[in-house]
Amino acid sequence: MAEIKSVGIIGAGQMGSGIAHVVALAGMKTRLYDVGEEQTKKGLSVIEKGLDRQVTSEKISQADREAALKLIETSTDLTTLGDLDLVIEAATENEDVKRKIFREICPNLSKDTILASNTSSISITRLASASDRPEQFMGIHFMNPVPVMKLVELVRGIATAETTFEASKGFVDKLGKTVTVSEDFPAFIVNRILLPMINEAIYTLYEGVGSVTSIDTAMKFGANHPMGPLQLADFIGLDTCLSIMQVLHDGLSDSKYRPCPLLVKYVEAGWIGRKVGRGFYDYR
Ligand code: CAA
Repeated sequence: MAEIKSVGIIGAGQMGSGIAHVVALAGMKTRLYDVGEEQTKKGLSVIEKGLDRQVTSEKISQADREAALKLIETSTDLTTLGDLDLVIEAATENEDVKRKIFREICPNLSKDTILASNTSSISITRLASASDRPEQFMGIHFMNPVPVMKLVELVRGIATAETTFEASKGFVDKLGKTVTVSEDFPAFIVNRILLPMINEAIYTLYEGVGSVTSIDTAMKFGANHPMGPLQLADFIGLDTCLSIMQVLHDGLSDSKYRPCPLLVKYVEAGWIGRKVGRGFYDYR
């Protein structure tokens, strides 16, 4: 498989814009898709702010910033991603949404394009089966915030060809990120371990063991985590946290993965974290 030189990203939210940021910074042609111009503009402005932070902290030069921005095009038409070497789906963590995207995009993709999902929990084998190219389908899972976090999880589906895996690994290497390989099990490695910890922190709050700040202070200073688990839940998005817990609970049929009722209630209330201004903390 030839080197990946051009990448399409479906979804200009926090993960999609972060992926576009690092792909363009690594010198690859980048096309960022979302359903409307409002979304793509918002994605671009997140990328600009992220690049500005990196210029300020002297991680990159002003020239690197300009070069990256020049490499990013936006699109609101899914049929325009067909000529790219790799297309990464980074839409919301909902299987039906992802399957619908694959059904729509596949007829317009070049036969050589590798299709990937940034899913943080859903079976790659099952998603691949919704595409027309299970051999050219990969799980490429970035961590949030993408420009800062060094890890990318690579996940093969049952039918993924070795050439697809190698091309994907070469792509992640080009981004300067560290690869870890996970088998295709619910929530893979990082979220299999991280999300039950966050869910347990929510149970700790639910059962009155500690307040939001006590729990976060305990884990920040007692376990040296950069963020407390409730702050991290707000950062990831409580909707995403709940989806991942549901995938673990359904997929592994073990009550230890039962989503905390308080997490369910917050999601039902629309208090899904930093992106809406309210979660365990108030950001308004
Ligand atoms: N773009 C570019 N740079 C960014 C950035 C962004 N979006 N966000 C932060 N940075 C940079 C800052 O500029 C800063 O750079 P310097 O050190 O060079 O100055 C650096 O990152 C640290 O940022 P801050 O000083 O603002 O804040 P901080 O020290 O509190 O770090 C953090 C912020 C990196 C997010 C840190 O709190 C952290 O690591 N938190 C944990 C994040 C985590 O666990 N992520 C994984 C979530 S799980 C996941 O993603 C999987 C999933 O599927 C759900």
